[in-house]
Amino acid sequence: MRIGIVTIFPDFVKVIREYGVIAQAVENGLLHIDIFNLRDFTTDKHKVVDDYPYGGGPGMVMKPEPFFRFFEFFQSNYGKAYVILTSPQGRRLDNKVAMELANKEQIVIVCGRYEGIDERVMKFVDDEISIGDYVLTGGELPAMVIVDAVSRFVPGVVEEESVKNDSFYNNLLDHPHYTRPREIDGMSVPEVLISGNHEEIELWRRKESLKKTMLKRPDIFMKHDFDELDKKALISLFRELIRDAR
Ligand SMILES: C[S@@+](CC[C@H](N)C(=O)[O-])C[C@H]1O[C@@H](n2cnc3c(N)ncnc32)[C@H](O)[C@@H]1O
Repeated sequence: MRIGIVTIFPDFVKVIREYGVIAQAVENGLLHIDIFNLRDFTTDKHKVVDDYPYGGGPGMVMKPEPFFRFFEFFQSNYGKAYVILTSPQGRRLDNKVAMELANKEQIVIVCGRYEGIDERVMKFVDDEISIGDYVLTGGELPAMVIVDAVSRFVPGVVEEESVKNDSFYNNLLDHPHYTRPREIDGMSVPEVLISGNHEEIELWRRKESLKKTMLKRPDIFMKHDFDELDKKALISLFRELIRDAR
């Protein structure tokens, strides 16, 4: 997958390519992340990218011409891309949106600053994505969040089994995890995890997932598609509850 990010702070964004799983995916050629400095698409000496808003009021607005030049350059060098504007007004990023975006061959993410971009730049934009109902000072952090969330669904970037067990996949939260040592500060790893009984471990993990989801996110629990293992886990959970109540 090829991802382009256009920003006035390329140094801020470039670290997304330099750490962990994303860096590995870039090295293995699964991801190509190009970062473009919007100021390279200005024509004046001071590389100005903002101007006063028509109609007055506070703040500045990102000028349209650098974006128009950028998209002309991009289309003639890289071809068609799905263009995403980072915006608090966009549809909210979640697992489903990230999966959908991971199916695109090429995306370009536009980072806004100031009061936002001149509305006429919207002619290049296919989608607006928000990372939550709050306003940030710029689109660079949202762009990095989008790249990270989307990359995990690009085949080969993260083990498929791991993605499927993570929170939100199939509307469940992940189960608790433990590693060595077996005991710390009087707290032990649950016996079942060292039993070697894979069926029992799977059932325990599903029970914990269901419990966590019910308690922390009843909204997504209601959307979960219950399978045979869920039914078994729920029956076992109810039995435990009844036993504890006695
Ligand atoms: C200060 S904000 C502009 C907010 C805009 N005046 C509004 O109220 O809708 C500057 C830029 O940060 C980015 N941004 C801010 N909050 C965001 C969010 N929650 N999700 C995605 N991008 C956001 C956008 O690119 C936006 O153009």
